Amino acid sequence: MNDDLNYKIQRLKEQRNALIIAHNYQRDEVQAIADMTGDSLELSRKAAQTNCDVIVFCGVNFMAESASILSPDKIVLLTASDAFCPMADMISAGTHRELYGAFPGYKDPPRYVYPVEYTLRDIKRDYPGVPVVAYVNTTAEVKAESDICCTSANVVEVIESLPDERVICVPDKNLSAWAAKNTKKEVISWDGYCHVHDRVRPLDVETARKSHPNAVFMAHPECRLDILEMADAVASTSGMLRFAARSSAKEFIVGTEIGLLYRLRKENPEKIFYPLRKDMVCPNMKKTTLQSVYIALREMQHVVKVSSEIRELAWNALNRMITL
Ligand code: 13P
Ligand code: SF4
Repeated sequence: MNDDLNYKIQRLKEQRNALIIAHNYQRDEVQAIADMTGDSLELSRKAAQTNCDVIVFCGVNFMAESASILSPDKIVLLTASDAFCPMADMISAGTHRELYGAFPGYKDPPRYVYPVEYTLRDIKRDYPGVPVVAYVNTTAEVKAESDICCTSANVVEVIESLPDERVICVPDKNLSAWAAKNTKKEVISWDGYCHVHDRVRPLDVETARKSHPNAVFMAHPECRLDILEMADAVASTSGMLRFAARSSAKEFIVGTEIGLLYRLRKENPEKIFYPLRKDMVCPNMKKTTLQSVYIALREMQHVVKVSSEIRELAWNALNRMITL
């Protein structure tokens, strides 16, 4: 069945001159058929450098938007129309109502920490002149309203690059707390969080360490600060892949979404990887299946196109980080 689908996907891919890219959290079988796997920004940047006509993004909406921002002349398809990031949707640039109106069929609305009326424009008004650093896990509209983007790997470097002594960091309170701990600057944080990483508690780490006393513990900066303080390495998904490959350790406890285990195991067959919690699963990332990749390509559906007005501003914020 999968072989048949794989064959059909490969044929369509050639016909459409398409490139299939998959985030590190995608299902194993989706990562297996992708031309590239990686973190969201890495994928969008690499896809922009290819001469494909169509980018098939196996990920969530904000990732496909970043691909559209960096490749405005390519067609970008999202492989599951309702694959959103609840954390990215915890902040909006202007009005939440407009944001949701644009995405019918969104079945899993995030729990808001701020009242829905409070937006990025409001926090900017409350802290006039303070620059906004937007994690790449934000919508294009939010990027467009921000001064500079950051990734989980370079957030401290980005904050340090700004001349200001205070910065606003959106949307992840955990990434902000990690940044605040590693910079002398004042970090004003939005109150969003990733429900997959934020659920980890110290007891989970203690239990995993007890079960695997020789393992090195790697944690993603979307985890809470108390968890990061218990980690041997704090790294983005790409950072974890690099760390595990270079480390002389043989066993690792992986504090991020379980999809990363696929590549960790494939690229390091002699090492052993344990999930920190088996339920670190992002349901939105798992909405993409081989079948949905095939249908998206066959029907050329779920096109994600950022308007030129938003694109220009969002590109500025992304590019300011890239040129750092
Ligand atoms: P990175 O792959 O950039 O570490 O991001 C993790 C994530 O949560 C993406 O949704
Ligand atoms: Fe969003 Fe977290 Fe899922 Fe990444 S893992 S897409 S940050 S909810």
